[in-house]
Formats: sequence, C-alpha cells, structure tokens
Amino acid sequence: MQDFIDRLPKAELHVHIEGTLEPELMLQLAERNAVGLRYSTVEEARAAYQFSDLRSFLNIYYEGARVLLREEDFHDLTWAYLLKARQNNVIHTEIFFDPQIHTERGVPFDTVLSGIRAALDAGRRELDITSHLLLCFLRHLSADAAMSTLEQALPHRDAILGVGLDGSEVGNPPSKFASVFERARKKGFLSVAHAGEEGPPDYIWQALDVLRVRRIDHGVRCLENRRLVERLRRDQVPLTVCPLSNVKLRVFDRIEDHNIGQLLEAGLCVSVNSDDPAYFGAYVNDNYRAVRDAHGLGRSEILRLARNSLVASFLDDTEKRRCLADLEASAAGAR
Ligand code: ADE
Ligand code: ZN
Repeated sequence: MQDFIDRLPKAELHVHIEGTLEPELMLQLAERNAVGLRYSTVEEARAAYQFSDLRSFLNIYYEGARVLLREEDFHDLTWAYLLKARQNNVIHTEIFFDPQIHTERGVPFDTVLSGIRAALDAGRRELDITSHLLLCFLRHLSADAAMSTLEQALPHRDAILGVGLDGSEVGNPPSKFASVFERARKKGFLSVAHAGEEGPPDYIWQALDVLRVRRIDHGVRCLENRRLVERLRRDQVPLTVCPLSNVKLRVFDRIEDHNIGQLLEAGLCVSVNSDDPAYFGAYVNDNYRAVRDAHGLGRSEILRLARNSLVASFLDDTEKRRCLADLEASAAGAR
C-alpha cells in the first residue's frame, strides 16, 4: 500500500515555498548571507518547531525566511523543494510565495520572483515537473499593502498565474481584500484563498462570493454549515486540505480526529497537500499515508484524492487529460 501512494502521479496544490525551507538549508543560507539565527544546529531548529496555533507557527516561519536575501537563495530553496516533489511523484505543483515577507525586509520583489522562476523553469526541463506560481497576500497586513504588492506583480503576469490569501486568519476576513482581488481578476489573475482553517465558515462564504476564488485552501471548518457544504459540493469547489498541518497547528488534536473522511463522504473535491513541509516534518506522501492509516482509507479513496489533485489544478484541459490518463494507468498497473 505504501508503494501505491508513492507510485501515484499527483499534483500538489497547497505548498508555501517559504515553508519548504529545511533547517539544513536555513543554516547554510544564514552562513552564506551572514544572517544571525537563534538556532545553531538543525536539532535546535527542529526542537523549536512546536506550535500552539497558526500565529505561533507564523512567527517561526517569518523568522526562518530572514535568511533568504539573494536571487540564488530563492532558487536554491525552490530547487530543493522540487527534488522532494519528484521523490513524492508530484508531476505538477502550484506553489505559493509570500513576497511581502521579503519586500518588508528590503529584498526586491524581482529578486524573489526571478530566483523562484528560474528553479521552476529548470524543474520543468530537468525534472519534468510542471508548475504554476501563486502570489499570496498577507492578510494581517493592510489592503493597501496588498494592493501595492499586486501593482508590483502586474508586469509579471506571465510568470504568476494567480493570487491567494494567507497569514493570520481570525480577524482578517476575505472581505478586507475585496478591491485587491477585484483588480487582480480584472488583470487576468486566477484566485484562491485560505479560509476556514482557523476562521469560521463565514470566511469561506466571503472567499467564494466576495473574492470569487476558484479554490479554498484548507476549508475544513465548512462542515459547521450545511448550506455551505451543499454549495461546495454542488459547484465542486476544490478544498486543498493539509491534514498534518492541521494537526501541527492544533486545528485537530490528532490525525484520527481530522474530518477528511467526512469531507470525502460529503462529496467534496478534497485534495491532500503538505502546506509547510519543512516545519511540519511531512511532505505530501506523508500526508496521504497519515490519513490512510488513521482513517482506514482504501485504494479507491487514495486514488480519488490523487485524481482530485489533478482535477482541481490550474492545468489546461489537454494537460489535465494527459495527467489523469497517466494516473489511471499507474493505478491499473498497481492492481
Ligand atoms: N502561511 C504559511 N502556512 C500557512 C497556513 N497554514 N495558514 C495561513 N498562512 C500560512
Ligand atoms: Zn497554507
């Protein structure tokens, strides 16, 4: 069964590139760039990765990102993730980046983007992994700050497929960014948003009806509202669920308590993703294995999760059909 998960070609739709910064690379970059860190060993860093909620995680995640200064740093970070993605048989990935973490520290937007893009382009050529890049606005910062970040992205419309919303959710509803998402849409960007991770179902409604997003990131709190579940089911709005992230950030106490089984039973288009794998100690296949083991998922459910990851991706129809055919062939070969 382990082989089955490893072998299935899949897409990853919810991964923050800054959340893939492994402590080994963090320490290397700290030295290369002469940035002081409060950890001097990998073990010390890992030991500090204990979170009580999203906010406590974000503080550590922003702190780690301070070692990223130059274009090659962003390249090396992204390349390291792509190597992990290949090990996990990820054939297509849609990566979030948080430019405001960097521009606030004086790192130019173009430095961040060029480094990430160079690695993604090499990933396509050398690893056969296709990718899209999604720019996330930090929701605990102002709408004006998000709008000026969007302005910086406009000349790079060909390099950035869409926009998203991440950061500290509670108290920062999607509606705060209505005008930013409207402008992004008019400029041709697709959109997604984190909603219903820690925040209430109403934030998911707002993401759908005010921001008009194409996917919901997390969305696990949707089950608190029957009408919302019906809407998500009817429109097959994808939920990019990150099971082990939810446990690490205490959205659920244990993986056995996660509601992924109910989300699937409700007929929702759920996929499994890693979110911030370096901080949670788990890449995408670890997440598949965790939900399989804790929830007794069989091959057909695992296959459905992998299928959903491709269906919910922003690949064009031809690419999607090709990837889905590869998936079905791989699953049939494993029988
Ligand atoms: N940024 C990185 N990971 C995040 C998460 N799980 N929720 C919100 N913002 C994030
Ligand atoms: Zn996330």
